[in-house]
Amino acid sequence: MNITNHQSLSYKRNKLFLDNHCINSITKHIKTPFYLYSVKALESNYLNFYNEALENQIKDPLICYALKANSNIHLLRRLKRMGAGADIVSGGELKQALKAKISPQKIVFSGVGKSEEEIKLALNCHKNGIYSFNVESIEELEMIGDVAKTLKKKARVALRLNPQVNVKTHKHISTGGRSHKFGILKDDIEKALRRKKLWTHIDLVGMSMHIGSQLTCLKATEKALNELSKICLNINHDLEFLDVGGGLGVPYSEDQTLCSLQEYMSLIKKVLNKHFIEIPRVVFEPGRYIVANCGLLVTEVIRTKQSAHNKFIIVDGGMNDFVRSSLYGAYHHVLPISKRNGKLSSCHVVGPICETADSFASDRELPLLKSKDRICIGDVGAYGHTMSSTYNMREKVKEYIIGLDGKLVK
Ligand code: LLP
Repeated sequence: MNITNHQSLSYKRNKLFLDNHCINSITKHIKTPFYLYSVKALESNYLNFYNEALENQIKDPLICYALKANSNIHLLRRLKRMGAGADIVSGGELKQALKAKISPQKIVFSGVGKSEEEIKLALNCHKNGIYSFNVESIEELEMIGDVAKTLKKKARVALRLNPQVNVKTHKHISTGGRSHKFGILKDDIEKALRRKKLWTHIDLVGMSMHIGSQLTCLKATEKALNELSKICLNINHDLEFLDVGGGLGVPYSEDQTLCSLQEYMSLIKKVLNKHFIEIPRVVFEPGRYIVANCGLLVTEVIRTKQSAHNKFIIVDGGMNDFVRSSLYGAYHHVLPISKRNGKLSSCHVVGPICETADSFASDRELPLLKSKDRICIGDVGAYGHTMSSTYNMREKVKEYIIGLDGKLVK
């Protein structure tokens, strides 16, 4: 049986397989809960993304993978080998990208709260600093200019536009609205460009945007990219690139309507062709698209509990290990590693944490599950481990990787 919409997961003789590897056979000796990633899925997602950009006449695209989605060093090294750059939001992520040997010339630094120390770190990591600070306020621009001056350097900068668009996604992860903390309003960009003194230690090399995550429709992207292109043309300044951010949504369930990678890239081509004689270099910052379907959380049933008409499957993984379901009410597949035939029944899959929100699924139709059975939470490669914590004094959840040869790497 294939799990609809899923490239890497399938059932064979009632056993769950990740890329042709039987999860039970290769992980039965590992203590749960743990994350399990597939290198094959990772590489195929990256290549799809890159090739689709080329297909759409986007020459020399720079794919700055957003580390916040998953910063596992082995996965980063794989992405680096395929040519990826990095989108980072902290000094810690900068160090991790450099540890994976990602070139500073392929690193963009986003985020509204870059500290003086982080700016210094980024400027000092190479004689030319990093590819771009994606600046989110004039106040930040002033700080970057000051730091660059003391270091006798010039900082490469792109201004992140706040395009004032409303995006169809969960409100916690929509970032392009006028009242949001992200990006700079158009009028403020124009004012900043007139302040000549601001620019003595700064090279303006690009314009950027990022309007939200898990975007399932392209309307707001089209509007924002039109705005971004118009600003680039109006400011009368030679720019090296346009950074279109990340945000492309992925299918977490069968009944979701989504825009495809093809539609996304062809929209970018269409909008840029409308404004520019030749499409400028495009920087992308995908996170979720590259890693979401590469990862599973494997967890074991501690016990089941019947309470009135509610059937709870209590597992050893909790919201501290994977928080998306609790925090955003996000849907994720629940898949037994070994499936029993027979009647399905409606269950709540919950963890051991002392919060009612500690739940992976409510009213989910599942086959019979017993103590010590293992299940997987699907599509947790993005914003899974990176958002995990040690809440309730639990150990930080571990990560394992299935390499191309089917061998397990810790
Ligand atoms: N670039 C910037 C500036 C971002 O803020 C983000 C994500 C990305 C790129 C990557 O976006 P992606 O392609 O992954 O959608 N924890 C939430 C998602 C938060 C996204 C934050 N920013 C979740 O689990 O859904």
